[in-house]
Amino acid sequence: MKNTLVVSLTGAAGQIGYSLLPHIASGQVFGEDQPIALRLIEIEPGMKPLAGVIMELNDCAFPLLESVEATSDLDHGFHGAHWALLVGSVPRKAGMERNDLLSINGNVFVGQGQALERSASNDIRVLVVGNPCNTNCLIAMRNAPSIPTDRWFAMTRLDENRAKSALAEKAGVHSRDVSKLAIWGNHSSTLYPDFENALINGEAIQKFLPDRPWLEGDFIRSVQQRGAAIIAARGLSSAASAAHAAIETVQTLRAVTSAEEWHSVASASDGSYGVPEGLICSFPTRSKGDGTATIVQGITLSAFAQNKFQQTLNELLEEKAMVADLLPQ
Ligand code: NAD
Ligand code: LMR
Repeated sequence: MKNTLVVSLTGAAGQIGYSLLPHIASGQVFGEDQPIALRLIEIEPGMKPLAGVIMELNDCAFPLLESVEATSDLDHGFHGAHWALLVGSVPRKAGMERNDLLSINGNVFVGQGQALERSASNDIRVLVVGNPCNTNCLIAMRNAPSIPTDRWFAMTRLDENRAKSALAEKAGVHSRDVSKLAIWGNHSSTLYPDFENALINGEAIQKFLPDRPWLEGDFIRSVQQRGAAIIAARGLSSAASAAHAAIETVQTLRAVTSAEEWHSVASASDGSYGVPEGLICSFPTRSKGDGTATIVQGITLSAFAQNKFQQTLNELLEEKAMVADLLPQ
């Protein structure tokens, strides 16, 4: 039997938490031979619904689930954590941009970063889902200076999946036929889904999708606005697809990525592609299976792509400036 893995989840009683937890407890995320201890973190109003979620987890009698604890105390919640999934935060409502949430959610990530610094295991990995996830991740990372910067991630895999699905639908192929579709920049309405380097069945997509105006226009816009479209339709932000993307992000970080593929995750820039060091920016990445991501080098970005990338980068820099007082030197 492997040693128990401690997984901490904030916002555990929320929509995404509810979709995510059974997959973690069943072994789908961390492996079918990996015992799990769950630390479920909620704010006070979430504690009652969380008690119900825990009843349901218990009622599943998951063989790998060693223990489940509910807490509002961050140090208790992150104590000895190997993975922290930071989902808890207020979602946007119709008409808001994700960075409108900075003033509401930004401060929360100061406390979470500080508690991770004090209490987590020294091999902690952190995935931020709560919006605006890139800048929330930056805030938490900067407030946890002893945790190496290559352990911090913000989720853009949902945008990658959305882009693959949209391209596949237009080209009349299956989404599994689309590869190397990277999201660059921010998880926001400025993100750049790089269709120019994507492949369909291993070939340049232009062969299947010659309609360049659609790619430059409706395609990009539809991926950028997909979260808002779901909020408009559901009255709530995406949850099942977000939980699925979080699962895939963790699985990808824990496995060796094939040379035929790359995946999107926002991580601390090492200066690649001119992105200022330390900024949490989405790149095409591969993993060696050690819970870190390496930025794929040498990808050609056309003048069109560079312009789009610069727009989303500018937004990340603006968000960083807005939270400067939450970023210790
Ligand atoms: P939700 O409102 O259903 O659940 C959020 C939960 O977080 C609630 O139970 C709430 O009590 C809890 N919470 C709030 N502040 C907290 C705190 N400080 N500590 C611990 N728990 C806290 O929202 P949801 O649909 O689960 O979405 C959660 C977040 O994920 C939102 O910010 C949403 O915008 C974001 N999101 C991101 C992506 C992405 O691709 N990165 C996709 C979908 C949603
Ligand atoms: C999404 O992309 O669905 C989430 O980030 C929720 C949102 O506010 O769009």
